Amino acid sequence: MKKLVVSFGLTTTLAFGAIATPVVFAKPIVVTQSQKEKFFDHKVINQLNVDNIYNNIASLSETPRVAGTEAEHNAVQYIKEQFESYGYETEIQQFTFYGYTPPSAIELSVNGYDGTLNPSSFTYTVNGNVSGELVYAGLGTVAELQNTDLTGKIALIQRGEISFGEKVLNAAEKGAIGVIIFNNTSGAVNGTLGEANDKYVPAVALTKAEGDALHEALISGEVLHTSLQVEGARAGESISHNVIATKKPTNKKKDTNDVIVVGAHHDSVAGAPGANDDASGTAMTLELARVFKNLPTDTEIRFITFGAEENGLLGSAHYVANLPEDDLNRIIANFNLDMVGSRDAGNLTMATLDGKPNLVTELAQASSTRLNGEPTPFYAGGRSDHVPFAEAGIPAALFIHSPSEPWYHTPEDSLDKISKEKLQDVAEIVGSAIYDQARFDNMGPKPKKGPKVKADPELYHEQSLK
Ligand code: BES
Ligand code: ZN
Repeated sequence: MKKLVVSFGLTTTLAFGAIATPVVFAKPIVVTQSQKEKFFDHKVINQLNVDNIYNNIASLSETPRVAGTEAEHNAVQYIKEQFESYGYETEIQQFTFYGYTPPSAIELSVNGYDGTLNPSSFTYTVNGNVSGELVYAGLGTVAELQNTDLTGKIALIQRGEISFGEKVLNAAEKGAIGVIIFNNTSGAVNGTLGEANDKYVPAVALTKAEGDALHEALISGEVLHTSLQVEGARAGESISHNVIATKKPTNKKKDTNDVIVVGAHHDSVAGAPGANDDASGTAMTLELARVFKNLPTDTEIRFITFGAEENGLLGSAHYVANLPEDDLNRIIANFNLDMVGSRDAGNLTMATLDGKPNLVTELAQASSTRLNGEPTPFYAGGRSDHVPFAEAGIPAALFIHSPSEPWYHTPEDSLDKISKEKLQDVAEIVGSAIYDQARFDNMGPKPKKGPKVKADPELYHEQSLK
């Protein structure tokens, strides 16, 4: 293990990192590399306040924050105000995307069927008010529908084999005026047709139990006259935002010219308060920004919350696509915090797009080992805002608990499921990992001789080493 000698006495200017000879008359204090790192970890940890994270999750998760809606806009203003209250100049980066507003009402009635039905909507379903006879159409594949005429009918289709969007298109192609897709497993469907398409007909989802019951009624020869109404859905151009707060290196002369991006997505899916997905990562990004504001660093840190992640990583993709060439070369790491506080999820893991280690996983494995005695494991995974960074060649990793909680993308993703212990643990690991890279001391080789190194008295005070 690398050993460092810090001298105090007649000369008190020697800094960490120097391989020093003890000064005459001075009693040397031997500091190991690991003690030094733990000392810096605590510069971050001592300032972290998990209640700040929790309270910001509470404020953000009062409502769903679907990209392009007023609720997302309010969240963006809230995040900006928080960054500014810590002393940051904050930029809002606006972008447009082709968005979808879910229906305000859906109604389904099946004459001759006396059970209750709770239809749910598919993202990108079109509006419509249709009625016709219900016909079972299997899995709705092209092969299965080859000899079927669905003209003027409403198709009842089971989930599986092909996408929801393909099922709707195949049925519409055969003349269906509406589609009902039922689950092939327990629980709600909560699905998407993938993208907008003019050829769709109104489509809703039912549970497996509901679909099976209708299917059985049809098998027994009943004629089920069905009405389906979808209202208020809208597809079109929407506006979303990224919020960017930048911490420049503390001392211009010691600027490494490197940039670290720490981020999370602030949007949620429709109907979900998104306390864990991803108010947790957003609130943690805010708290790390607050803590780092007053820490001396030689590396630029950008704290960014992204919009429209749930629409296909749109905010992070927009951010990366619009980076000047120079910035692309300067960004050395992206820490992506997505779902970092659920009481009901598994342990902390990281995901890199290619499944290989990189600077982010290395820094976090080192910090988690220092703090918890075990390195946080990583696996290959996408599905979040680290993807556009990784695709641009930037070392990036997602921080997430795995397996995910059962409330993922449901109305149950609410504040009461948030664990302060989980938040504290992730914030410590990520904060320490970032500081390990960004603090002054890590600028590369230090001068060999001590006296010329000007130590920050606060950082190198003997008392703090204990
Ligand atoms: N936070 C999730 C990603 C996630 C969830 C990763 C569970 C691993 C386990 C993210 O907000 C999300 O839902 N992503 C979408 C994909 C995206 C491209 C729209 C997803 O995974 O369906
Ligand atoms: Zn998410």
